[in-house]
Amino acid sequence: MEKKMEQSKSMHINKIAVILLSALLVFMLMLGWGLGLFADIEEEPYVNGDTDRIVVGVSQLGSESRWRTANTESVQNTFTQKNGYFLIFNNARQKQENQIKALRSFISQRVDYIVFSPVVETGWDTVLQEAKEAGIPVILMDRNVDVEDDSLYVTCVGSDFVKEGEQAGYWLEKELKKRGAADEDIHIVVLKGTEGSSSQIGRTEGFFSVAEDHDNWIVLGQEYADFTSAKGREVMEGMLRRYRDIDVVVSQNDDMTFGAIEAIRESGRTVGVDGDIIVISVDGTHDALTMVADGMINVDIECNPNQGEYVSDVIESLENGMEVEKQYYVDENVFTIDNVTKDVLSQRNY
Ligand code: AHR
Repeated sequence: MEKKMEQSKSMHINKIAVILLSALLVFMLMLGWGLGLFADIEEEPYVNGDTDRIVVGVSQLGSESRWRTANTESVQNTFTQKNGYFLIFNNARQKQENQIKALRSFISQRVDYIVFSPVVETGWDTVLQEAKEAGIPVILMDRNVDVEDDSLYVTCVGSDFVKEGEQAGYWLEKELKKRGAADEDIHIVVLKGTEGSSSQIGRTEGFFSVAEDHDNWIVLGQEYADFTSAKGREVMEGMLRRYRDIDVVVSQNDDMTFGAIEAIRESGRTVGVDGDIIVISVDGTHDALTMVADGMINVDIECNPNQGEYVSDVIESLENGMEVEKQYYVDENVFTIDNVTKDVLSQRNY
């Protein structure tokens, strides 16, 4: 009898242990999922050279913004089995060292093409040399690299970031004229993207090339906010504390703009067409264009994330032995309350 009781007691303890372990396992899986640890995509195990399809290793730099999510989707919708591709996708979570690791892994797997969005411009010479020696063509997507020898990559498909920055400046020029304020002192703050990235460097250069023609444009501050909403908000809060009289915010992407607008409104000031502070943004995502239509963002300079098909066209040309250009720019537009129609909003897939 006593033995039976002991047996059932130990079975009970075992059951509890199994339940606790299962709960722990579920929790760890959910945590891993939440942290994006399982976000990389490989359709099926790939053993070097075992497929007739074109094997493309894609190193995405991260998932910091809505734009980036759309860019990833464009890649994943393009490099499909149906289209004749085998995609090996890696998300570097904003770390250059992760991208270098991914590139080396693509080289050792002998992929047919490497496609990557470099998080920053510098520091790629060695790994790209390794890819070149392995005979793997490298296609840059979205952002560019700053390397000694530009034969280390075949081409770059992306946006003209300098032009985007200039367009922000030209729009402001026109707007101030329209308001009869072309000669007044204008106090500007700039929220910059990830330090050292092509999009940050180009947009800064483009905007300041227009700003330097206007002595009355006073840039109170310019700070990096990493292309994220949280950082955009934090940096904007600091600027609002430091500078009492801000007329214009130039934000180098929509996610930082969302954070900045929250901070501005919480400080009691208003934004947009009828507001205290003019807001200039970049990207043209659906949420931001909705705010343009509502008059909260004055202008949004489009940065087109649908680059997968452009890259696939390049690969097709290379497969057919054709020459390709060193740089391809995607089509982009400038959006204000005047041209964000219902159609534009309904067609926007990101
Ligand atoms: O490099 C493109 C930029 O990176 C986009 O403007 C931004 O949203 C992204 O994070």
